[in-house]
Amino acid sequence: MFIAGNWKMNTNRKMACTLANGVLDKLDSVLNGAADKVEVAFCPPFVYLVDVAGLLPEGKAVYLGSQNVYFEDNGAFTGEMSTAMLKDVGCTLVLAGHSERRHVIGESDELINKKVRKSLADGLRVILCIGETLAERKANKTLDVNRRQVKAGLAGVTREQLANVVIAYEPVWAIGTGVTASPAQAQEVHAQVRSLVAGLYDTAAGDAMQIQYGGSVKPDNALELLGQPDIDGALVGGASLKVDDFLAIIAAGAKAAASKK
Ligand code: PGA
Repeated sequence: MFIAGNWKMNTNRKMACTLANGVLDKLDSVLNGAADKVEVAFCPPFVYLVDVAGLLPEGKAVYLGSQNVYFEDNGAFTGEMSTAMLKDVGCTLVLAGHSERRHVIGESDELINKKVRKSLADGLRVILCIGETLAERKANKTLDVNRRQVKAGLAGVTREQLANVVIAYEPVWAIGTGVTASPAQAQEVHAQVRSLVAGLYDTAAGDAMQIQYGGSVKPDNALELLGQPDIDGALVGGASLKVDDFLAIIAAGAKAAASKK
């Protein structure tokens, strides 16, 4: 079970530290004995990575993630950050293919794949985000779009590297809208994604793939979503900015994890 908070372009330096500390202070109590089954990550804006890194406890499954990365090592790429820079400040994780990067910033499947491959080659864990828009869902293209994004995102990723990949299914129509995919809608796509990974690699790879759900995950819907057989975690935006809400989602993750094998 992997609960990651994507803070997007939010917080300031003080809020970032208060938020991380607030979650860390109560983490043990909400994990309630399920600490070995639940991983947690914070993905703050670039400029606060160093501050948040300094707060993370050693020896706990709490990771620092970057919301973005570039695929070159260095050079004339104004505004971009390399994998080495991110690792240098304590990141072990990156997001790739988030719908806001795809649809607001205009990143292509090809660019996302370059980021995925570079990050994996340099030992970072990657959350590859996929998901259809409302128009695509209405046009019955949900499976096609997610298939394309998974295949393109994982192109050139070896079987061995797959252990460092997490897929986040985030229907675009559910992100930041307050509309959540129903547990059944999410489960359906998660099962398809799992069999897609099994088809691209092998059954064991599909079984082992961690697949997070993202899109308006809140304390009141988290347990039912996370209890679905093919949902292995959550990528949380808005609710990750509130200490109590994020803790409640982590607690739901711990409860769901304890009830799964
Ligand atoms: P949300 O965002 O929880 O605010 O819908 C999720 C995400 O974009 O990762």
